[in-house]
Amino acid sequence: MEKMKFVLVGCGRIATLHVAGYRDREDAELWGVYDKNPQAAKRFAAEHGIPKVYDSYEAVLADPAVTGVELLVPHHLHCELTVAACRAKKHVSVQKPMALNLAECDEMIAAAKENGVVLKVFENFVHYPPYLLLKDLIARGEIGEIRGVRYKMCNASLYSENIPGADARAKHTDASKDDCPRTGWKVDPSSWLWRLNGSLCGGGPVVFDDGYHKFSLFLDLVGGVEKVCAWIDETPALPGIMQDVPAVIMWKYADKKVYGVWDVTAAPDLYVKGKYYTCDERMEVTGTRGVLWLTRCTAEMLDTVAPVVLYRDGKLTEFWDVPSDWQDAFIHSTKDFIESIRDGREPVLTGERGREVLAFALAAMASSEQKKEIYLTGQEDRKKQKRRGVLSIFGKKQA
Ligand SMILES: NC(=O)c1ccc[n+]([C@@H]2O[C@H](COP(=O)([O-])OP(=O)(O)OC[C@H]3O[C@@H](n4cnc5c(N)ncnc54)[C@H](O)[C@@H]3O)[C@@H](O)[C@H]2O)c1
Repeated sequence: MEKMKFVLVGCGRIATLHVAGYRDREDAELWGVYDKNPQAAKRFAAEHGIPKVYDSYEAVLADPAVTGVELLVPHHLHCELTVAACRAKKHVSVQKPMALNLAECDEMIAAAKENGVVLKVFENFVHYPPYLLLKDLIARGEIGEIRGVRYKMCNASLYSENIPGADARAKHTDASKDDCPRTGWKVDPSSWLWRLNGSLCGGGPVVFDDGYHKFSLFLDLVGGVEKVCAWIDETPALPGIMQDVPAVIMWKYADKKVYGVWDVTAAPDLYVKGKYYTCDERMEVTGTRGVLWLTRCTAEMLDTVAPVVLYRDGKLTEFWDVPSDWQDAFIHSTKDFIESIRDGREPVLTGERGREVLAFALAAMASSEQKKEIYLTGQEDRKKQKRRGVLSIFGKKQA
């Protein structure tokens, strides 16, 4: 069988987790990379044994061998690069958040439909195995009907390897510095810089950017949302740079008396264990006869507690036998992209679903800005932002 060939566009921080999903497949391979920084592309290809390095996005799209692209670039480029890929008849997986506003989502959805290609929004949390187990337990009736959803998120410092957290742990305990290894991965400052520019990122780095994952989970778990009410404040993330925390976001699901609440805190000296971003996440789902907890996702602060815990009928059951590395979610999401093309089916996060997730996020931001609850039906879109055109040959000039 001839393998489908995929190209990663953008070889930054997250690209490293997009490689494993292509390994050892008979139907697909990671064929090439492109980054506007040629050195980054060459380095990444060499490190991961990827055969081809393109010198422009136009060259990727003009190559008849290429089946599809994975767009791993800053958010202001998502719409433009997606539309161009669709016009070149390439299938597209675009990293979250789908776009900067709903009008852009509509353009992307229309381009994919007109050209008969798959459009997948790459949001990995809905593919995280412990979350899938939690959903499965709910589907099997273990907690009865869902009555409420709570999500707690706490970011440690944004410094690479959570250095302040490790230093604080050493200072406040008897442990030596050697016993308090740094946690979290290295993040190049360039990876934060565009995120802290609203016109490139589309919103704050926490509620808008990372938050897309959480809004996606909340919709995936229960269904459509009727209204949202939020407070989103600001605190320093790095010297001179603000982040959109603390925040509390509340919502009501449509057609049912089920409410959700997500609270986000930043704790700069917190020692969070984990290999990736040092972001602690926990979810609690209350049902009519039981409660379920998801105790982690990106990081593993509660590593002595099982990834999924069930309380029912006076008994606590811990579920340890489930892969819980954050990367597993990326592998499953990549698999979903490849197999949706191979099998001619829709991916889990279609363009339409990706748009719904963005609408939820934008409603939360609008609620905080306007100091009132926002109904999702009839919600006003954000003004279309001016974008810098990066493509000359495929599209008309963007507004
Ligand atoms: N799923 C997750 O959990 C997760 C985590 C982090 C990032 N992301 C998403 O992945 C995407 C990339 O984020 P990142 O953290 O890797 O960012 P990054 O800044 O580390 O990497 C972005 C890369 O894109 C390249 N680039 C910029 N403009 C380009 C262009 N016009 N053409 C080609 N390459 C270009 C940059 O040179 C850089 O190498 C974003 O959408 C982000 O929200 C998702």
